[in-house]
Amino acid sequence: MDLIESRKSVRQYSEKTIPDNILKDILNVGRLAPSWMNSQPWQFIVVKNQETKDLLCKLSNNQPHVRMADTVIVCVADNNAWSKEVFGKVLKSRGMKDEAIDNIMTIPAYYPPILGDETTLLRSVEQVTYAIAYMTLEAEKQGIGCCVIGALGNEVTKFAPDIYKQAKEKLNLNDKHCIISMLTLGYEKEKQSSNKLRKDFDEVISFEKLGNKF
Ligand SMILES: Cc1cc2nc3c(=O)[nH]c(=O)nc-3n(C[C@H](O)[C@H](O)[C@H](O)COP(=O)(O)O)c2cc1C
Repeated sequence: MDLIESRKSVRQYSEKTIPDNILKDILNVGRLAPSWMNSQPWQFIVVKNQETKDLLCKLSNNQPHVRMADTVIVCVADNNAWSKEVFGKVLKSRGMKDEAIDNIMTIPAYYPPILGDETTLLRSVEQVTYAIAYMTLEAEKQGIGCCVIGALGNEVTKFAPDIYKQAKEKLNLNDKHCIISMLTLGYEKEKQSSNKLRKDFDEVISFEKLGNKF
């Protein structure tokens, strides 16, 4: 709760570099996040190169914190994770037998590709979101400011398609990948406290049915 309360989006960074071991801790926390049937449909690309950060800044409609960040973690929904080979390997590692794996891949509720590319992407995005949330908390724990960047061009927003194509090429991504968010990271320029502007408890939480207070 302490971390959750103190975490806030940080958009101005000092010149100080984040050591690799801290970045690795943040990334490992993302990697260890839960996902549906342990599918882990994600890739995280650590970007420190200024030219690449400038391109990602353009992709985010020129949000300055993207180019000013010490590091940008590009968070990618990886639809390759649902291929029979890759997902099958994950299920096998859980001790599942071949027959059970084949069966799972015939059930739409378990195997999104049956429902098409759009549903598959939706499911991948759902999983990546957990990892991103975890990473923001680990960053907070490590004293690193960060901001999730979701306003960007990609398959979902269709914004800036040419820049998106360039960014994907630069990052070695293909049409099975979708950049879903970026995490900008850096030491906070001037320490500020968090100011949680949130909907009231009763506005978003109900007991038994919508509108009943808990
Ligand atoms: C999925 C997602 C996308 C976001 N996209 C952006 C963004 O593109 N640019 C930005 O400056 N902040 C972005 N934010 C940060 C939100 O504006 C911020 O989390 C929200 O206002 C609450 O403030 P707090 O993080 O300080 O508690 C995003 C947050 C999330 C979770």
